[in-house]
Amino acid sequence: MADLTTDFIGIRSPNPFWLASAPPTDKEYNVRRAFDAGWGGVVWKTLGAEGPPVVNVNGPRYGVIHGADRRVLGINNIELITDRPLQTNLDEIARVKRDYPDRAMIASIMVPCEEEAWKAILPRVEDTGSDGIELNFGCPHGMSERGMGSAVGQVPEYIQMVAEWCKHYTHLPVIVKLTPNITDIRKPARAAKAGGADAVSLINTINSITAVDLDDFAPEPTIDGKGSHGGYCGPAVKPIALSMVSEIARDPETRGMPISGIGGVTTWRDAAEFIALGCGNVQVCTAAMTYGFKVVQEMTAGLSRYMDEKGYASIEDFRGRAVPNVTDWQHLNLNYVTKARIDQDACIKCGRCYAACEDTSHQAVAMSADRTFTVVDEECVACNLCVDVCPVEDCITMERLEAGTTDPRTGRIVQAEPADWTTHPNNPGSPNYVPAGQDTMVSEPAE
Ligand SMILES: Cc1cc2nc3c(=O)[nH]c(=O)nc-3n(C[C@H](O)[C@H](O)[C@H](O)COP(=O)(O)O)c2cc1C
Repeated sequence: MADLTTDFIGIRSPNPFWLASAPPTDKEYNVRRAFDAGWGGVVWKTLGAEGPPVVNVNGPRYGVIHGADRRVLGINNIELITDRPLQTNLDEIARVKRDYPDRAMIASIMVPCEEEAWKAILPRVEDTGSDGIELNFGCPHGMSERGMGSAVGQVPEYIQMVAEWCKHYTHLPVIVKLTPNITDIRKPARAAKAGGADAVSLINTINSITAVDLDDFAPEPTIDGKGSHGGYCGPAVKPIALSMVSEIARDPETRGMPISGIGGVTTWRDAAEFIALGCGNVQVCTAAMTYGFKVVQEMTAGLSRYMDEKGYASIEDFRGRAVPNVTDWQHLNLNYVTKARIDQDACIKCGRCYAACEDTSHQAVAMSADRTFTVVDEECVACNLCVDVCPVEDCITMERLEAGTTDPRTGRIVQAEPADWTTHPNNPGSPNYVPAGQDTMVSEPAE
């Protein structure tokens, strides 16, 4: 049976599933129940500085995007960091860690960007017996207007400076949690590394307004007729998170830096994808808020089964395996040619593939009088839209043309050798550049 234990920057946990800093980790009652359900670790709801706690709104904090079946696809929240006194949280963290010594306990912290503020809180957190700290440089609302959260995470120099303070004032491992509300995620990650941080975690939530009430003309969630942007998370943000994780995993300056993957992890498969892109573990919020703590049991069972099937004894056996396959567009093989194929037995004759292709793509799906849909190879550019809009899984698939056969669309023989844009004759920067008016296809014309 696969070994799910992880050692993330020296922090051991029985499985790679940690609860992200958020309402599920807000207090002792929750975290005890989470650990009893099987979570490997938690990042406690973000702690603020000593003094009067922040005050949350008393109206709705969340706005949700639902799928057609009312499944939660994304949550937008306008909640702040913990609104309970610092000492209450610290006492609870200490008690829970004492009673669950094999679980990872990370304290998330957000205090003003002043050395004294960090110097003051770090020893108090250390005293709780926490295994590490996570610097919340990600919250995009409420706290950022006060110069914290994403206001720090958007300035690499601040990230580096605070990371340096933390490495100076505590011996605990330091995880920098990154905001996705930035153009190039590699810059804050590099700054975290330069500041001596042990790891990065990402993503925090994305600036968002989920809807506008068309009677009141107010953004949702609406607080007495007004709304502000919140932070978006859940399954909808996973593609953004995966892309950002991959950028950090393959950047020469941050390659190999430990990453805790966050953003839309709902199933074991999501977690495995983050791990394949180099993450040492994953953090989960929305899935727990939607399905409850026991969802972790499906995650651990599924991951374990997958690893057994593949013969991976430990997480390290497949961690990062997808990283070498993430490349830049110009290195994709332009000699890889596919065509859509429709399984007539599976087709329910709904015509979505036809409508999508006929109206918005390449007129490559033909419809007969009896509503039989077939692919016109002479027109099919293999965009995949028909596959994507078809409501029947695996009804339409893409089939690769063998090398040596002729692509009916271009009339050219498909080449076995890969060829990419860097050497393409249409690319003015390529050594093979052929000026306009001359033959510019990669594949050889058919005899
Ligand atoms: C209601 C709510 C409150 C959150 N509060 C915090 C917080 O205090 N500190 C923090 O670092 N992240 C906070 N987050 C962000 C989550 O930790 C996580 O980064 C984000 O939800 C993405 O993960 P998910 O897609 O699994 O939800 C919060 C998220 C939600 C939904």
